[in-house]
Amino acid sequence: MGALDGKVSIITGGGSGMGRSTALRFAAEGAAVAVADVNDEGGRATVALVEDLGGRASFIHTDTSDEAAVVSLVAETARAYGRVDSMVAAAGISFANYVEGDRETDPFLNPAAAGILTKPTERWQRVLDVNLTGVMLCAREAARQMIAEEHGGTIVTFSSIAAYGPSPGIMDYCVSKVGVIMLTRCMAAEFGPHGIRVNSVAPGPIDTPMTQSLRETGALQAQGGALPLGRMAKPEEVSNAVLFLTSDESSYITGKTLGVDGGTNTV
Ligand SMILES: NC(=O)c1ccc[n+]([C@@H]2O[C@H](COP(=O)([O-])OP(=O)(O)OC[C@H]3O[C@@H](n4cnc5c(N)ncnc54)[C@H](O)[C@@H]3O)[C@@H](O)[C@H]2O)c1
Repeated sequence: MGALDGKVSIITGGGSGMGRSTALRFAAEGAAVAVADVNDEGGRATVALVEDLGGRASFIHTDTSDEAAVVSLVAETARAYGRVDSMVAAAGISFANYVEGDRETDPFLNPAAAGILTKPTERWQRVLDVNLTGVMLCAREAARQMIAEEHGGTIVTFSSIAAYGPSPGIMDYCVSKVGVIMLTRCMAAEFGPHGIRVNSVAPGPIDTPMTQSLRETGALQAQGGALPLGRMAKPEEVSNAVLFLTSDESSYITGKTLGVDGGTNTV
């Protein structure tokens, strides 16, 4: 018997990294999974991996910063699987042109060029649109559906250790991830009476495509090596925490942000 038997989960950013590892973990625990991403190839690959495991999944192309797309994602999932029990809002970008793979504006490769004084306002706005507004849209729409279905549910958002310390070149990212922590608390307060728990994970240095350029410079390995646990982590180690916050094992936990970060800021 799996921890999520009979449950239906929507996982944004499910086409890669921690979204994908969470989709695989949830499917292994019995959930049907709707994978939402702007990366069609990655999203379809995740679905194929879930099906290889004998699980149920479908891909729904979604830009999570687009309200109409998010509304249709949740409606389509409910139509396909009959209900929505959990939302994992993992979709995110580290800089405005991350999805396009633009190395010129990658702040990990060119931190000086991405400074506060020179970064165009629209790049700041794009990061806020995806990482903060997009998370709000996905969480709100999922909650509306859960409330209509009258059975409660869970929402897990993705913050970051970047919420706790300023990093050169990624002011927009840091601010968006601080916002996610407060968004999570506000939603937990408002949705709690409906039986909906809202929590966040704040990953440390994780080995995913998002940190590829940081790994190229050696900075991520150094960051992990300086931590109490002395290493960066695999995406599955974060998915374990997302599963905990989604399953009944965390039934009395809401409004919290759980660091999955190798001991960042511990010493
Ligand atoms: N990797 C790390 O070290 C780290 C650390 C802390 C927090 N995070 C956060 O974890 C989450 C997952 O990141 P990851 O490391 O797995 O990166 P990833 O690049 O592997 O996955 C992110 C996914 O989000 C998708 N995405 C981006 N914009 C989207 C949009 N507008 N609509 C739908 N999908 C969109 C991408 O296509 C990609 O598939 C992100 O929110 C990220 O900010 C990552």
